[in-house]
This record gives sequence, C-alpha cells and structure tokens, in this order.
Amino acid sequence: MDEGGSSVVATTLMRVAGLQKSYGGLCAVDDVTFDVLRGEVLALVGDNGAGKSTLVKALAGAQQPDSGSIEIEGQPVSLRTPRDAEAAGIGCLHQGLGLVDALDVPENVFLGRELQTKVFGLVPQLDHGRMRARTIELLDRFGIHLPKLNEPVMRLSGGQRQTVAISRLLLQDVRLVIMDEPMAALGVEEGRRVLDLVRSMREEGISVIVISHNLEHVFQLADRIAVMKNGKLIGVVETASTTRDAVVSMITFGQMR
Ligand SMILES: Nc1ncnc2c1ncn2[C@@H]1O[C@H](COP(=O)(O)OP(=O)(O)OP(=O)(O)O)[C@@H](O)[C@H]1O
Ligand SMILES: [Mg+2]
Repeated sequence: MDEGGSSVVATTLMRVAGLQKSYGGLCAVDDVTFDVLRGEVLALVGDNGAGKSTLVKALAGAQQPDSGSIEIEGQPVSLRTPRDAEAAGIGCLHQGLGLVDALDVPENVFLGRELQTKVFGLVPQLDHGRMRARTIELLDRFGIHLPKLNEPVMRLSGGQRQTVAISRLLLQDVRLVIMDEPMAALGVEEGRRVLDLVRSMREEGISVIVISHNLEHVFQLADRIAVMKNGKLIGVVETASTTRDAVVSMITFGQMR
C-alpha cells in the first residue's frame, strides 16, 4: 500500500459534502458531510425524524438535495433520478421494496431490464430460461436459497421478498447498496439471513449503508456507525472502538462523549 505498510488501507468510494435538504422551514438534512469507504458496512442511526431517509434518498437519486455535492471515486456526480444513481453503481432498497406481487422471482429480479430472445430470429419474446439461470447464478453467488423461484412473490415470506429485492440490486453492477430499515418487519431467523447477505456483499467489496433502529444488529454488522439528530450528522464512529451507551448518548443528546 501507499504508506509501505502491509495493512489494507480503506479507500473512499463516495464523498458527500455539505448536503442540505429543507421541507418548507424544516431542515431535514443540515449540512451533512461524510465518506463511504469501499467495502464497508456503514450503519445510519438516529431517532424518528432525524433525517436518515431524506439523506439516503438524495444518495439514491430519489430526491434532489437543495445543495451540496456527491463524488464517487473522486468524480462529481449528479444524481437527479434513480437511473442516474443506478448508472453510478448505487442501488437502493426503499421500505416498500418495489416488487410486483404477481410476478415470480426471476421476473422480479429482471423487472424493467428483461432478457429477450427472438423466435425464428424475428419475434422478440421474454427469455425465461436465461433469466431463471442468471437468477440462480446470482443467488448462488451470494449464498441465497429460495425454494419457490417460479411462484408469484406474494407467496414468499417477508425475508424472502427482501432477498428478491436485494438480488434485483445485485444484478446491476452495484458498488453501493443502501437499505432503509431492511430488518424492521422480519422475524429473528429472517433478519439473520439478511445480515448474512449484507456480510456477503461486503466480502464482494460492495459498500452498504444500512439504516436501522436495532442497535444489536448495528453492532453485529457495521464497520462504522453514523449518528444523525435533527438533520445534523453528529458523528461517525468505528464500531470496534465505541459502545452501545456512547451511541445511545449520541442519538439522544446529539453530541459525542
Ligand atoms: N416529503 C416530506 N415533506 C415534508 N416533510 C418531510 C418529508 N419527508 C420527511 N419530512 C420531514 O423531514 C424530517 C426527516 O424525516 P426522515 O424521514 O428523513 O427521518 P428518518 O430519520 O428517516 O425517520 P424514521 O426513523 O422515522 O424513518 C422529519 O421531520 C419529517 O417529518
Ligand atoms: Mg426513515
């Protein structure tokens, strides 16, 4: 590495500077500056209304900030739409997941970018075989097991649906996955599977920003923890060198101890 040492130096994937978003008189995101490192899991925590969702919406092209800048790999990017974010390698899992209940797993994974084949070299038709094969490949790569690939996803459990939505993101060449409360509605076992999936994304070098109110999950999963309060970023701390009490205190009192 640059410093001549043998340790791996974390490199910056995304740099967010001076991000600002107001709704009327309310400053939902107030001059927020932070980095996302390559291959890290960064937890974003804070009380209800702290500004977490508003912040990640700006990073996912789902909402325009009033001001501030975002760089990826040192290049300024303008994320006006989710398509822009997708092109920049950012995938976002919003709370609704965006699945179509009546479609099966491969159809949901490929939603909006379906693979086609041509019958007799002429008539375009959906290539279900190839979509299924690519889906299985993708699920294998991340160690995901889904028993009912060909059934409408409405028959899947909450955790399995979550997995389908994540697979959809992984199909793109994502460098950053943003998850807004992915474990909120899941049972213990299903939550654990999503935690495992986040870990396998990290192993593949994908960075993950995960919003969660569950500090137990946060401490199990995150490399660093970012705390917001009243639109402000109070601080970003290394999980290994902080405590639950310190994080709770940051959330509650809005200052580092
Ligand atoms: N579309 C909107 N119009 C007006 N105000 C909004 C809008 N979206 C969010 N807000 C306000 O901005 C502030 C931040 O909201 P945000 O949803 O980002 O918080 P959060 O940290 O994600 O909270 P939670 O943990 O409850 O999801 C809140 O005061 C909220 O009421
Ligand atoms: Mg929110």
